[in-house]
Amino acid sequence: MAETKKLPQPMRPSGFGGRIFGVAMEMLSASNYRWVVKQLEPTAPRTYLEIGFGTGKQAQLVAARFHPAHIFGVDPSELMLATARKQLARFSPATAVDMRLGDDTLLGQWPPAPIDAIVASHSWQFWADPVTTLARIRALLAPAGRFVMVIRSHISEGVQKWIPNPITKAGNELEGLRAALATAGFRIIVDEKLRTGSQGIVAVIA
Ligand SMILES: C[S@@+](CC[C@H](N)C(=O)[O-])C[C@H]1O[C@@H](n2cnc3c(N)ncnc32)[C@H](O)[C@@H]1O
Repeated sequence: MAETKKLPQPMRPSGFGGRIFGVAMEMLSASNYRWVVKQLEPTAPRTYLEIGFGTGKQAQLVAARFHPAHIFGVDPSELMLATARKQLARFSPATAVDMRLGDDTLLGQWPPAPIDAIVASHSWQFWADPVTTLARIRALLAPAGRFVMVIRSHISEGVQKWIPNPITKAGNELEGLRAALATAGFRIIVDEKLRTGSQGIVAVIA
């Protein structure tokens, strides 16, 4: 997580623009959040991890619905970390909330396995080494756990230039992701286009 230059708001929300971005993101993603909660119903997670939690809205909905014992989260934006921690404080102490500043690479050391539900919504495209991160997620996931991804569908040519994920950059992103999930030891059980146009994928251990 070592960079100093100013990154685009979706990748690193910050300052006043980041606050506006956060509000817009919550509005535009409201139906995605509901879809994710629905995908977690069969698991009713006791432990939940979110990679790139943004304002924490998704985690709040999970906390309210399932009352998990632990919520873990990682996001490299200081603004998003402060926002999400504030939003989730009301669920503590029934739910232990451990949200940290960092990116997907933190998953090599933390949190403790097993995790019942792992969610990455609109953050996959920012992973610089997605193959390593998928292997780490596979190692963290509980045997009957679910890994839920929401993938933004449209990427402009401009964004394609700076987006770090090599699978996204290579084009035919969804095919690349499906193949990477299989290689990492996952089986896809849900793969559908959501109302927002994003792709929703649910994977379990193969
Ligand atoms: C488009 S926002 C989505 C936020 C949230 N998941 C949602 O759907 O409301 C992307 C989030 O991913 C975070 N992010 C960027 N790079 C990341 C990385 N390598 N690992 C984890 N999160 C990352 C950003 O800071 C931002 O909060």
